[in-house]
Amino acid sequence: MDETRASRTALSTSLMRAVHTRLDRPALIDDAWGDRLVPQSEREALLKRMIGGLDPEAPKRVDPLGSPEAALDAMLRAHPMYGTVVVRTRYAEDALAAAVARGSRQYVIIGAGMDSFALRQPAFARGVEVFEIDHPASQGLKRRQLHECGVPVPPTLHFVPADLSRESLGTALGRTAFRGDQPAFFSWLGVTVYLTREANLETLRAVAGCAAPTSELVFTYLDEHELDPDRGSDDVQKVRATVATVGEPWVSGFDPSRLAEDLRGVGLVLVEDLDGEGLLARYCAGRTGGLSPASGVHIARARVGASPA
Ligand SMILES: C[S@@+](CC[C@H](N)C(=O)[O-])C[C@H]1O[C@@H](n2cnc3c(N)ncnc32)[C@H](O)[C@@H]1O
Repeated sequence: MDETRASRTALSTSLMRAVHTRLDRPALIDDAWGDRLVPQSEREALLKRMIGGLDPEAPKRVDPLGSPEAALDAMLRAHPMYGTVVVRTRYAEDALAAAVARGSRQYVIIGAGMDSFALRQPAFARGVEVFEIDHPASQGLKRRQLHECGVPVPPTLHFVPADLSRESLGTALGRTAFRGDQPAFFSWLGVTVYLTREANLETLRAVAGCAAPTSELVFTYLDEHELDPDRGSDDVQKVRATVATVGEPWVSGFDPSRLAEDLRGVGLVLVEDLDGEGLLARYCAGRTGGLSPASGVHIARARVGASPA
């Protein structure tokens, strides 16, 4: 990503969650924070990019009589990653709730972007310390926006600025009150695709190395076959072209058939791995309105030093 700018994709995903919360019924998540946290100038720039971007079909989806806000909502809703972004938040927070019920009191959000969990503070999360690790440019914008919107930072939220291409997760967490002797829950949503395989394995190894046994991690990854122009789906090719234009190219994935082995190699045990069809069946069956996770993007859940439950 651009070293000096907040991640644009983090702003888009936060707006997608807000659009879903406002417009889709039943809503799978309740997270309208993107409407407050994404600056107006960024929304305008995003709409301009989406309309004038690489997708020749895009302008046809925009109602010429609608407001810019309605046009942006429509474009985000039609984005191939919209369903995935909504469902991954729901999946991660369901797994977090289960981990808290088992005794975890630490939640580490790697590449947090505009994640609003710490601001929403659902009842089950009382007493959970939240560590948001993100690139300093993205985290800086979030902190400025919170300040501008007059939103106090909850005492349980710890901001940890770190460029994970230069500093390991373990070192970053070592600067905080994170307790490696207590179970923790980690999420890493929408990030692995932007990092190299080596950097991803390094972060996975760091999770296994700095977290107590039974700690869990939920992360998303791209089926690496999607990176092959001859085998990748049209949707993925389209999104790859778009994100590359904002300086955040998709560079790596995992092979689903070897994921368990990859994780074992860094000290983690694969508990669950769902592709788009699995997520569709679990969260979107029977829905109308087309909330549909992209087929090549997976959500995996792994555990530190324990057998799958
Ligand atoms: C697509 S956004 C996802 C944000 C959030 N997890 C979500 O689901 O909305 C990718 C996030 O990864 C972060 N990121 C990318 N490269 C990074 C790096 N080298 N170090 C730390 N964070 C990074 C960006 O700042 C951004 O917040």
